[in-house]
Amino acid sequence: MSTLVVMIPGDGIGPEVAAAAEKMIRASGASIDWIYAQAGADTAEKTGNPLPVETIDLIDKHKVALKGPTGTPIGGGFRSINVALRQHFELYANFRPAKTMKGLETRFDNVDLITIRENTEGLYSGLEHVVTPGVVESLRIITEKGSERIVRFAFETARLYNRKKVTAVHKANILKLSDGLFLDVARRIASLYPDIEYDESIVDATCMRLVMDPSVYDVLVMENLFGDIVSDLASGLIGGLGMAPSANIGATHAIFEAVHGSAPDIAGKGLANPAAFTLSGALMLRHLGMPVEAERIENAIRTVIAEGSVRTRDTGGTAGTSEFTDAVIEKMEL
Ligand code: NAI
Repeated sequence: MSTLVVMIPGDGIGPEVAAAAEKMIRASGASIDWIYAQAGADTAEKTGNPLPVETIDLIDKHKVALKGPTGTPIGGGFRSINVALRQHFELYANFRPAKTMKGLETRFDNVDLITIRENTEGLYSGLEHVVTPGVVESLRIITEKGSERIVRFAFETARLYNRKKVTAVHKANILKLSDGLFLDVARRIASLYPDIEYDESIVDATCMRLVMDPSVYDVLVMENLFGDIVSDLASGLIGGLGMAPSANIGATHAIFEAVHGSAPDIAGKGLANPAAFTLSGALMLRHLGMPVEAERIENAIRTVIAEGSVRTRDTGGTAGTSEFTDAVIEKMEL
């Protein structure tokens, strides 16, 4: 029986990488039926709403979505689609693996990190106000409940992926109350997982160590803004956003998406690298209980990149989206 998944192609290169990913996922043997839904700046232009209620209803019904990049229209008071989706479905955990791709020119050849970012609180709670003209306040919300579920998620992820250590990243030396609470909770949860090492690292020092020797870290867990920045830094260590997949996971729903944006500069030209979006699809297959098909996709993409003869321009090659897609499909052994 096929599994139903909502596909949101999104803006710019979104429809191109979505079509390529569908082909690669089909070639992996995964039995998925796609239900198309709209979101993004193009959708806003056509319907007046970047995130139509039909799209929310479809995700609500089918629980899992693979989402392309979406632009948020500037002006008009629209909220970010990604923030809106994360908050609506309480997708509290952002999961981003960053693993070196053999063959890509990067500073390190041994990066293997998982960044877990709290996705619904912190400075992204959307609580901002003008105190008095010239003074604006943005509230950084940290709760015991939010901290507990994200730290638990990090330890459960560590177990699932056979990882050895979880590091809580914080700024409790300055943000004594909010990150103090986060650390108290992290220490309590860590004591429930004696099989996994636990340590703590101040966010600025973490960034410095990551660019000097990323092998000191394994699974990193942190609040929203720190996670936004540190997870992009980790993507940079493996060759940039074109290769980085991600998952947004909640108790009942999950949305998978590449880290990159809609790349308007190359949209419609057949040049986009579909690897990150397709690797996000592979994370989705794991979530749906199809690890064999997921691994087939991951291995095929890794092999094509490592061999080096068929690469898209962002990774130093000359191939287009469809040439890369065909090369990956050829590498899948069924
Ligand atoms: P971007 O990631 O779209 O592009 C940055 C650079 O990377 C560009 O030169 C682009 O050509 C290149 N690039 C990105 N993805 C690529 C791919 N798959 N293959 C080859 N090259 C790729 O970031 P930018 O320009 O800051 O944002 C463009 C739009 O995307 C904005 O409207 C932004 O709001 C939106 N965006 C959406 C995201 C999402 O929906 N998850 C995430 C980031 C940005």
